[in-house]
Amino acid sequence: MNVVESIERKRDGHALAAEEIRALIAGYTADAIPDYQMSALLMAILLRGLSADELAVWTDAMLHSGDVLDFSHIAAPKVDKHSTGGVGDKVSIPLVPMVAACGVAIPMISGRGLGHTGGTLDKLESIPGFRTALDPAEFTRLLERTGLVLAGQSETLVPADRRIYALRDVTGTVPSIPLIASSIMSKKLAEGLDALVLDVKVGSGAFMRDIVRARELARTMVGIGAAHGTAVTALITDMSQPLGRAVGNANEIAESLEVLRGGGPADLVEITHQLGVAMLLAGGVAPDPDAAQRMLHAAVASGNAFAKFEEVVIAQGGDPAVLHDPSLLPSAPEEAVVTAPRDGIVQRCDALLLGVAAVRLGAGRMTKEEAVDPGVGFIVCVKVGDVVSAGDPLIRIRWRHPGRLAEARSLVDHAIVLGDTAAFPPPLVHERVV
Ligand code: URA
Repeated sequence: MNVVESIERKRDGHALAAEEIRALIAGYTADAIPDYQMSALLMAILLRGLSADELAVWTDAMLHSGDVLDFSHIAAPKVDKHSTGGVGDKVSIPLVPMVAACGVAIPMISGRGLGHTGGTLDKLESIPGFRTALDPAEFTRLLERTGLVLAGQSETLVPADRRIYALRDVTGTVPSIPLIASSIMSKKLAEGLDALVLDVKVGSGAFMRDIVRARELARTMVGIGAAHGTAVTALITDMSQPLGRAVGNANEIAESLEVLRGGGPADLVEITHQLGVAMLLAGGVAPDPDAAQRMLHAAVASGNAFAKFEEVVIAQGGDPAVLHDPSLLPSAPEEAVVTAPRDGIVQRCDALLLGVAAVRLGAGRMTKEEAVDPGVGFIVCVKVGDVVSAGDPLIRIRWRHPGRLAEARSLVDHAIVLGDTAAFPPPLVHERVV
């Protein structure tokens, strides 16, 4: 095949043939196509899009780049959740032990940080020893044993997504509906699920900035699920300001532990519960939303959700001591505090600026080879609508390198806008797409 011709054809707005798409995905997965050519193709797709037929083949080629798991021997319903990506979006970490404690099996394949958004794998790996690289045999054993497994794409599990995802992270090719939809759905369809719940983020800190595009992304993924016989429910949720207070890797684990102990910021708890209800209903283990809510509350109040997370951390090699004493999690040595320059009401707390600033601090990557720093990040002390006085802390920054702090500060200083009129945050859940 001639990769240059494929790039040129997509650049010029033409459709790629099915066999061509399969050869491109197989070639890149086998290292026969270099990063620079795949980057150019991805940029052409971002600019020109994929037709429904092209997207179906692209997703199928990614899905079959590795093993497709079959858990039909496990009696419990298999349900997973995936987010399209946000800032401070650590929902999966408290959510899945809560839902697993209610009797749903969750074979979760997640991703790393993508663009300015954080990734579940990077967060989990801030727990010392936690292993997310599992082969299908170990993945299956852990799911059978604990009912919950948290792993990454690998050489055997959606390897095409592993490579394309890492490339998109550092080539400005993330915010494309077909590339996001194929990335998410190839991973999720490889998990052998009965049902899937999607959290489609909308707002400045999301890849979909407005509701029209968020709806299109949600419908695209629901459609791919339907074509593969997997029931998909999508909630379109707000990402105009960070979710919860913590942004970073280790500090997001600490905040997730608060939720598992029955505390945590109200917005994070609310979204976690709404997605949990959707998962329990999708799995058929709760008859209605009220019953699902009661099950989730009981899983937290009884300590079963926390115990489930501890079981998974131990099973995947993590140090359980950090769960009982989060001060043992990695933490950068220095703190800087951004304070309110005047009295006022928070009008904006910009998720995009804070997400980009977190990457600059070292919580995400600017090249494929870069390692993330688990200990850097922010505690965002305010939400839209809060009343503050001059000198009140707005953002606490955990940092390690002065140059990186300076880069991050130039963004953080503009993230929070104060005014004199009452301000109201948008609803947390905008719409549901089924
Ligand atoms: N999550 C994914 O797995 N892939 C994307 O492209 C975006 C969010």
